[in-house]
Amino acid sequence: MTGTTPPAAPTRGREITVTGIDGAGKSTLAARLHQALNDAGQPTVLIGKHTTTVPMDEDLSAYLDRVNAVVYRRDARVARTCGDHYWLLQLAAWYALQDRLVIQPALAAGTHVILDNAHHKILARYAVNPGPLTRLAEQVFAHLTEPDLVIFLQIGAQEALARKGTFSSLETGHSGDGDADFVCYQDAVLAQLRKQEQQGGWLSVDVTDLDRETVFKTAAAALADRLQLPI
Ligand SMILES: Nc1ncnc2c1ncn2[C@@H]1O[C@H](COP(=O)(O)OP(=O)(O)OP(=O)(O)O)[C@@H](O)[C@H]1O
Ligand SMILES: [Mg+2]
Repeated sequence: MTGTTPPAAPTRGREITVTGIDGAGKSTLAARLHQALNDAGQPTVLIGKHTTTVPMDEDLSAYLDRVNAVVYRRDARVARTCGDHYWLLQLAAWYALQDRLVIQPALAAGTHVILDNAHHKILARYAVNPGPLTRLAEQVFAHLTEPDLVIFLQIGAQEALARKGTFSSLETGHSGDGDADFVCYQDAVLAQLRKQEQQGGWLSVDVTDLDRETVFKTAAAALADRLQLPI
């Protein structure tokens, strides 16, 4: 019998996500890991809230961009007026599409995914004031692809504020516009992230006194150790 062997399916890519309070250094680390993996010959995409391209599909890209505009490109007054319930459902729609249209196809094609900020911070925000939305938040994100590694950058709110300098109303939980409002709210979000961490498996790094290079080296060592990625 003759015939050609079908090409082997690519080894599934790995998904790595970074979480932490606002200003913890998530985007900084995500960009650095993305660069390092590609430099090491590991095809990797960096996905975040600005990613609206669905490879080789203009229609889906255009649609994803419209959803992105609804969720992320609106003014502060609109954000406050629409309310927490509405925003949870919009964020769930955004994350569902990002997972299905961008993350899953990349992983299936053997490309690694660095996700700058998965849904964990949203869960934490909706857990700060326990109520019906806390439960709903757990439900609407439950179907998302489980990352192979969650990197939790731990830092106190005061130190995060010093790094960020400025902040939005959302980043105080709409509780006020003073530094103390930011610190109080973000410390509450941090406490909720720590509760999620207790479910296990996260790489937790106290980044309070760590420079960018040390944070990167710590994360890179975990990628090599836990995921066998040559970085
Ligand atoms: N290890 C570090 N040491 C000092 N400053 C840092 C470090 N990592 C990042 N920064 C700086 O802190 C600020 C916040 O970093 P970054 O934007 O990466 O945080 P983030 O967690 O993505 O924040 P956000 O939740 O607002 O998106 C930036 O100015 C960044 O350059
Ligand atoms: Mg960021």
